[in-house]
Formats: sequence, C-alpha cells, structure tokens
Amino acid sequence: MAGCVKVILLLLGCCCCLESHLKKYYYIDLPLSWINAREYCRTHYRDLATFESSDDMNGLQFQFEDSWIGLWDDPNSWRNQLGSGPNSWRWSSFEEPAKTSYMNWKSLEPRSSYDKKLSVLMVDGQWDEDSAYGPLFPFVCYTAVNETAKVYTYISNAETWTGAQKYCRHYHTDLALIENYAENAEVYLEAQSSKVWIGLYRVPWTWSDGSAPNFTNWGALEPGGTDDKDSCAVLSPTGKWFDLACEDSMPFICQDIIQVDYKSRVKMQIQTDADMTDPAVNTEILQQLSSRLTQLGQIDVKLHWTSPPSKKKRPGIK
Ligand SMILES: *[C@@H]1O[C@H](CO)[C@@H](O)[C@H](O)[C@H]1NC(C)=O
Ligand SMILES: *[C@@H]1O[C@H](CO)[C@@H](O)[C@H](O)[C@H]1NC(C)=O
Repeated sequence: MAGCVKVILLLLGCCCCLESHLKKYYYIDLPLSWINAREYCRTHYRDLATFESSDDMNGLQFQFEDSWIGLWDDPNSWRNQLGSGPNSWRWSSFEEPAKTSYMNWKSLEPRSSYDKKLSVLMVDGQWDEDSAYGPLFPFVCYTAVNETAKVYTYISNAETWTGAQKYCRHYHTDLALIENYAENAEVYLEAQSSKVWIGLYRVPWTWSDGSAPNFTNWGALEPGGTDDKDSCAVLSPTGKWFDLACEDSMPFICQDIIQVDYKSRVKMQIQTDADMTDPAVNTEILQQLSSRLTQLGQIDVKLHWTSPPSKKKRPGIK
C-alpha cells in the first residue's frame, strides 16, 4: 500500500457488561444430592454455580425453585477428623492441618454455625469453637525452643482471635500450637482456668473449587447452625442463600464460562494519500488494523467498515 497511513482511533461502545456475561447459568430441574449435582455440572457444564457479586446474581434470568449452588462447608473435611480439605481445621503456626492426630474437642464439638473464620477456645482444657472476629478472650502464645520443645505464655489481655494471632506472631512464635496430651495440659495450666484462644482455626464455606467467597448473600440468621448437618448452600428464588444437609435431593444451578463476542464501534479519521475509495486499499487497511489490534490486545479482533470510506474532507483536519 502506498503512502503512510495515520490513523486516529476513537474507541466507543460498552465493555461494562463483559464480565457478568462471561458466566452463564443453567437451571437443572433434577433433584440430586449436592455431590451428585456437582458431578452432573462438571460433566455437562463447568461446575455448580458460583456468585462473585450481585451482578452475577442478576445473571439468573430464569424461573427456579430452591437449588443447590457451589458453596459448601465440606463436612468430611472438618467434622470428625483433622482432614486436609479447604474447610479443615488448621494450626496458625503452619497454616495447615495438624501433623499429629491429637485433638481434644469438647463433646458435641466441632459444630458448624458461622459463615466467617472459626477459631478455637480452650475451655477447661477442652476445645470449643467460636467466631474469630467477635468475642474477646485472653490467649496463649508459644515460642518454639527447638523442633520439639515449646514454651507457652499466657496473655491476659482480651483480644479477638485475629488480634491474638497478630500479638503472638509479633512477640512469640505464634498462637499456641498443641500437638499432644502433655502440651494440652501445659496450656491448660498456663491459662489459669480462663477461656483462652489457641492457634486452631478454619475457614468454613468455600466454593466447590476450594476458593473462599468474596461475596455472600445469606438470608437472615443463615447459615443456620440449628442443625450441624447443614453444610451445603441453597439459593432460594428470593435470591437469598440458606444451608441444608448435603444429602438432601434438590434441583441445582450449573454454570459454564462462555466466550463473549462484544462489539465496539471504532471511529477513524484517516490521513492518507492513498485512494480510500479503492476497495483493495481499504481492505488492506482493515487487515493491518485488525492484526495490530489482535497483537496489542491478545484477543482475536475482526474489523469491518460500517460505512465505506469517502473522500469528504473535514474542516480542521489536513
Ligand atoms: C529441645 O529443648 C529442650 C529444652 O531446652 C531440651 O530438653 C531438648 O533436649 C531439646 N531437643 C532437641 C531435639 O534439641
Ligand atoms: C477475591 O478477593 C481477592 C482479594 O481481594 C482477589 O484476589 C480475588 O481475585 C477475588 N476473587 C474473585 C473470584 O473475585
């Protein structure tokens, strides 16, 4: 193509809706347990539905009954054992599940009842769960002397679990790590019969891919906590979420991530000596522009003229 073509691009159009349209939801009116529903979605779509914002919730453009969504508090990973899933109990000092099988839960604990980080209180030498953010209690820090020996220190200032963790990490090794009966007895002794935070915690309610939710839409007083079997989340037609036993049979909502075609109108003012009314010339311009935009944006861009170039001169433009 002859001559140098200078192009001024004005990008118009709307890209605001791109993200919410990337995810597409499907209502499957087939009552299954949560696990089987997830299997179905993973086979036919991508996964059970996740919602990262209220925009996502607006993507539900269909009628539905109470349905499973992809949020759960995997009961097998925390209820009876120190499992290794995203919802399992873990120790603050290594942010991982226990390396020994020692546990000293109070009877009927642990239970599920909160939607936020859960942490553990020692009460009369036994372990009891509470919310990491709400109540203030004294706590016990530990200092690692060597690989096996720990020195425990009682701190009488009442703190949230998170505040206590910060303090211990600053002045000691971490919040109390307890790996056997003898250590539990030492912490109990240090605690001087106060209720104290220890370093055990967990993150309940994660999406089926293990990620923690940034957005939740629980109904009032949910997740319930009245029945500790309720470990899977249901979306009601009101848009609110509640928890139910994962074994129940419910319809469900799957999601797929689909490729979105969106259009932008591009206004160009072209300064050139070439004859823009020549179809061969303006086709070549489009091709060059397309490939340049594709390179820049790393997406496939295809351009076409909405109106063919004309020779009309505009005032003020050479
Ligand atoms: C760890 O420290 C304790 C207390 O100082 C000591 O009795 C023990 O022998 C040490 N163990 C190791 C493996 O160094
Ligand atoms: C959730 O928030 C974290 C931190 O703010 C961010 O890195 C992550 O991308 C968010 N996840 C989603 C799915 O929006």
